[in-house]
Amino acid sequence: MDRILPVIREDKKIPTLYVDGQPFLAFAGEVHNSAAYDTEKLEAQIWKNMDSSHLNTLIVPIYWETLEPEEGTFDFTLADTLLEQAQRYGKKLILLWFGLWKNAESSYIPGWMKRDDETYFHAEKYGGEKLNTISPACGRAVEKDAAAFARLMAHLREEDHASSVIMVQVENEVGLLGTDRDYCAQAQALFSRKIPELMRCTAKGDTCEGREGSWTEAFGEDAAEAFSAWQFASALEKIASAGRKEYAIPCYTNVWLKQFPWYPGSYPSGGPVHDMLWLWKAAAPSLFTIAPDIYVSYVPRVMEEYGSPENPLLIPEVRKDAVTASYALYAFLHHHAIGYAPFGIEDLWTEDNKALPAEVMEALKLDPLSFHLAGTKEALSEVYRLVEELKPLYLKYRGTNRLQCYLKKTEGDQGCYLKFSFCDLEIEYFPAIEGKPAAAGAVFELEENKLLIAGMMSSIKFHSKAGKHRKIEFLKKELGTFQNGKWLCEQRQNGDEKIVTILSDKPCCYCIELFDY
Ligand code: DGJ
Repeated sequence: MDRILPVIREDKKIPTLYVDGQPFLAFAGEVHNSAAYDTEKLEAQIWKNMDSSHLNTLIVPIYWETLEPEEGTFDFTLADTLLEQAQRYGKKLILLWFGLWKNAESSYIPGWMKRDDETYFHAEKYGGEKLNTISPACGRAVEKDAAAFARLMAHLREEDHASSVIMVQVENEVGLLGTDRDYCAQAQALFSRKIPELMRCTAKGDTCEGREGSWTEAFGEDAAEAFSAWQFASALEKIASAGRKEYAIPCYTNVWLKQFPWYPGSYPSGGPVHDMLWLWKAAAPSLFTIAPDIYVSYVPRVMEEYGSPENPLLIPEVRKDAVTASYALYAFLHHHAIGYAPFGIEDLWTEDNKALPAEVMEALKLDPLSFHLAGTKEALSEVYRLVEELKPLYLKYRGTNRLQCYLKKTEGDQGCYLKFSFCDLEIEYFPAIEGKPAAAGAVFELEENKLLIAGMMSSIKFHSKAGKHRKIEFLKKELGTFQNGKWLCEQRQNGDEKIVTILSDKPCCYCIELFDY
């Protein structure tokens, strides 16, 4: 039988990942950077635990340094082991190509490349200080990376008979730290040229700005960052397109967000931060999306910024305190996320290695609170289970008013008022509690007077439509689960239990029929 490749296709105008021909939501986790050096441990500590937390996808690195240990000699042991493990555990894989660039450095390049810094020259700060980052102006390094990545993709095409690999991330959080751009001689020569044709009239928002001249003339104060973004985006386009020529599965890259203190170089300059997204979209069309790594506290804002029909939301790394469960629910059901993955997922199941050292947190600008694990395993597992259960309803109602979601987005956010055809819902959010998820939920209007409400940390009151002046009461109120497209009642409620409708800290689901009088 012909293999059906994973593909991004629109359904109801919503970009959707199809795996094995079916819409797929990746309930994922990303492993720690070094986890895949030891695939036996990976099996014992990670694959074996995925079911307990309802994960269907694992995000794992492939290291260029072990893939091509000698120039031109390839070792596919890691890729083969991962394919075998994924198949045996019935899970999907997203592979991270740790090639030329990882967190603004070049630490995963093979030793033969590390030792030849004349051929594979480094980026420099103003004044000549070299960075541990291969310059994006180094065409020969980019070619080597593209060739190695293409070999990996060709190998997947030949060996991944079960289509276990559903996507590949090209590089990891690219850009330059400590400088706004590369000042090495080769980069200087490029910077002194006129901007490339594609940058002259690329839409930013909806308007064509008609830029021309030098980078400085065209971009003013943003010239260094725009130039850097152009360099990295062009390099990634070469790499991604070389890989996709061999095996055309969805490819994306991830981003270290623009964040405090907000100047390029304090975050990797040239990475696909929000204001450079338009440029990346123009320069790297082989990447179907730019995926945010979210460790900041304002996760909802970042989801808004990186989730659109042009840039489907995929979150390959995200904080893993208990609120992550609420963000996962909202990401899938409101933003139509393709996948969601807390970083260092094995920490949910292992006792050791819970927090990164403070120096690492500081260097990577990570919010230490984002790694607090109290309550995460329970809440996240429940949300992944719940969203999987609700998937048939989600696919049916998404994009219409008959599915509306809510999320406590800030500390001061008290609640919301959702309007449906028969009645309106006043939803009050519970205050934040450490170790508990935040208020979040989804309401499906199954019939005019029949609602399915799934969520947590909130309470609900029902109101008659404005101007009707009637009262709303329950015909039937049930707590339960939605399985294989069918409602299963676990507890019918009335009397004391009908006075308030509470969704506690444990994600739950109500099916409610109403009447008015
Ligand atoms: C973001 C990077 O993309 C990850 O590989 C990892 O380094 C995390 N930061 C934090 O450890």
